[in-house]
Amino acid sequence: MKVAVIRKEQFNAAHRLYRKDWDDAKNKEVFGLCSNPLYHGHNYMLEVKVTGEINPETGYVIDLKILKEIIKAEVLDKFDHMNLNEDTEEFRDLNPTAENIAIVIYDKIRNKLDKQYEVKVWLSETDKNFVEYPA
Ligand code: NI
Repeated sequence: MKVAVIRKEQFNAAHRLYRKDWDDAKNKEVFGLCSNPLYHGHNYMLEVKVTGEINPETGYVIDLKILKEIIKAEVLDKFDHMNLNEDTEEFRDLNPTAENIAIVIYDKIRNKLDKQYEVKVWLSETDKNFVEYPA
């Protein structure tokens, strides 16, 4: 019997969506306000879902303290209040769209959890848009 537990977090970060091989006009046309050359911020809402069997000894799928600490170390400590393009290795050459940020976060958390768990990540930049990975 599998059960899912979900941890919500939020972090603030600046980004700019653009391609170095496109000029500002082309970047503006494709990425709109998110291509502002002087960056802008989002309040990212993150949800991490971990699915697995309940441990009969503890009654937990996973101790949420452990999940909280993994998210803190792998995501918040690295990205919170950072400029994703300039301050992080992960997005130096990867456009920091919500899609790409969700994949990077998923990979980091997935690597820290036992293979018995299924992991899913939701990430939103605004109240109205969010992405899911794996889809
Ligand atoms: Ni943006």
